[in-house]
Amino acid sequence: MSRLFWKIFLTMWLSIVAFSAAMGTINDMIARGQWAEDPANIFSRGMERISQRSARVLYERGREGLVEELQAVPLIARSHIFVVDDSGVEILGRDAALRTLTQSGRPSTQARIVDVDGEPYTLHTFARVPPGALLAPGLQGTLLRLMVAALISALVSYFLASGLTTPLKRLRDASRKIAEGDLQARVGKLKPVRHDEIGELAEDFDRMASHLETMQQANQRLLRDVSHELRSPLARLTVALEIARKKGAGQVANELNRIETESQRLETLVNDVLGLLRESSETAPRGDQDVDIARLLSELAETVSYEAPEGSPGVAWAGSESLIYRGDRELLWRAIENLLRNAMRHTEPDRGVVLSLDQEHGGALAITVRDYGTGLPEEELDKIFKPFYRVQESRDRKSGGHGLGLSIASAAVRRHGGEISASNAPGGGLAVTILLPAQ
Ligand SMILES: Nc1ncnc2c1ncn2[C@@H]1O[C@H](COP(=O)(O)OP(=O)(O)O)[C@@H](O)[C@H]1O
Ligand SMILES: [Mg+2]
Repeated sequence: MSRLFWKIFLTMWLSIVAFSAAMGTINDMIARGQWAEDPANIFSRGMERISQRSARVLYERGREGLVEELQAVPLIARSHIFVVDDSGVEILGRDAALRTLTQSGRPSTQARIVDVDGEPYTLHTFARVPPGALLAPGLQGTLLRLMVAALISALVSYFLASGLTTPLKRLRDASRKIAEGDLQARVGKLKPVRHDEIGELAEDFDRMASHLETMQQANQRLLRDVSHELRSPLARLTVALEIARKKGAGQVANELNRIETESQRLETLVNDVLGLLRESSETAPRGDQDVDIARLLSELAETVSYEAPEGSPGVAWAGSESLIYRGDRELLWRAIENLLRNAMRHTEPDRGVVLSLDQEHGGALAITVRDYGTGLPEEELDKIFKPFYRVQESRDRKSGGHGLGLSIASAAVRRHGGEISASNAPGGGLAVTILLPAQ
């Protein structure tokens, strides 16, 4: 049977058994009358006997005899009995202790005793601190016992529960990170080291994460190698096309045009894949320059508007003053260019696209590209940032690229520590926003 199982089973079982046994024993003793009398009474009867003996000893053997007698009494009782002579001196010299006790207001009794010459002494006896209240019969005792039991079982349960949940929290955190795409996340060594199922689970989890990471790296390497390998045949194809065009002298012009379009598409795909791999690789160096974002946006608006079909207002950009942000100009350019091209493709031809830049207080930047197309169903808004994802496969294949543009943009934004998101703009159309953190 498993170790964690036994840990939980034995802790629960033993504490229930111990608790029931303690309660049972106490109740049994009460029932048998062993505590039928308040222990305080037992103590005060003992004190009474000592007082009587003290009076006798003083009378028979005088002051020295009483001193000897008292010194022989066990401390627990002796510290509750004092004898003061006529001049106010305690015969064992414990005046200070007597004063403290008297001031504490503890219930006490006083008696006059005399020696054989009639010399008077005062005998003080004090009640004990509420004795053994935990063992006292009755409602009060039961409540007290319950409170002590609740406290002890709370402690036991606390350590049991936190021993289970603390390592589970670490596992949960690591698995969330993996789910978010951080394949380098690990649980690591648990402290204290655990040899039970949870320890094994943590080790298995880390093994699984390493395996996933290696697999992902292998996949990326394969994709990169294949893309690289495709480049040279593509280049040769373009050269061969030119030659064929010359030799063919117009007979196969249509077919050759078709071949050219397809090989251009293939080239874009290869370049996009390589771009995505480059941009999403955390280790590649990221440029760190002062970028004038406002200038960059205005240049982009101009470039994209220039290619807009006739009759389209192109990209409307209202910002003007310069705004410096430290980052990689190339990456930011490509990201926003992708958004603008998508927007131009989806917007109503006669309405164009709006590009805007806002600086939030604190210095974070929000760059928004808004079009007047049909927008997207809510459930697609997150998915469009995944590689090769297109909402309408057939239509988007004809009009657009390979579904890599937004993934590339998203990777570029993430390398700046930012976020990208899409929402349906009020009044129709899609709004894609890039948030760049304050620096
Ligand atoms: N402005 C937009 N309006 C509506 N749908 C859009 C818009 N931008 C992107 N999309 C959808 O998101 C998908 C992914 O975009 P993207 O990654 O740029 O790929 P591609 O443009 O190559 O198709 C597109 O295929 C399209 O379906
Ligand atoms: Mg695109």
